[in-house]
Amino acid sequence: MRKKIVAGNWKMNNDLAETQTLISDLKKSMPATDAEVKIAPTYTSLYPAYEALKENTIEVVAQNMHQAENGAYTGEISAAMLKSVGIKTVILGHSERRAYFGEDDALLAQKVDAAIKNNMDVIFCFGEELEDRKTDKHFNLVESQLKNALFHLDTNAWKHIVLAYEPVWAIGTGETASPEQAQEMHEFIRNTIAAKYSQSLADEVSILYGGSVKPNNAKEIFSKPDVDGGLIGGASLKAEDFVAIVKAI
Ligand code: G3H
Repeated sequence: MRKKIVAGNWKMNNDLAETQTLISDLKKSMPATDAEVKIAPTYTSLYPAYEALKENTIEVVAQNMHQAENGAYTGEISAAMLKSVGIKTVILGHSERRAYFGEDDALLAQKVDAAIKNNMDVIFCFGEELEDRKTDKHFNLVESQLKNALFHLDTNAWKHIVLAYEPVWAIGTGETASPEQAQEMHEFIRNTIAAKYSQSLADEVSILYGGSVKPNNAKEIFSKPDVDGGLIGGASLKAEDFVAIVKAI
């Protein structure tokens, strides 16, 4: 049985005090669940968040990291540094990193390798832009993102990978992929992995959906057979909404 996961990507929101308040609210209201629940605060809040949640089942994860072990990379953070403050999982390939910071598949392949070398887990994000979908290139695009960034990995390395399909046109727009569109793409992703590796490996990979998941649409999206949870942006910033989404899985 593959893992069900609900992860909240806080992006560049919440200072330290706000982080502590939100974590305190989550601790009070998070229900018992079979799903893995994760939150990704900003770098400055990672260690305090880790400390606040180390006895809790909610895992604190990072939003990004650099591919090098250390060195002259001003402003960057390595896998070893994340691990030194208790972080074992990192989000890589988010569309905002791709769009605003020029991260491409080749760079992301290096980042994925660095994370796995350091025994970290990766939530790998990818997905098409609106133009790709309008011109019917979305399957090809998603396939190439997968192949270019992840298909050099050996079978063992895939134990570290969770996928997050995030159509760019649905991120922060209030427009969500329909449950059918999400299922269609998740099934395509799983079939693509099965063709390259094996059906059993593909069946073990959790594929999350991200893009305007809210309390009122989460249940329907999560009900699809190839949707194993969600990567939640805006709705993860309010404890009440995030908890409602966790309850929907
Ligand atoms: O990482 C999360 C995604 O970018 C989704 O963000 O839920 O605000 O659309 P959103």
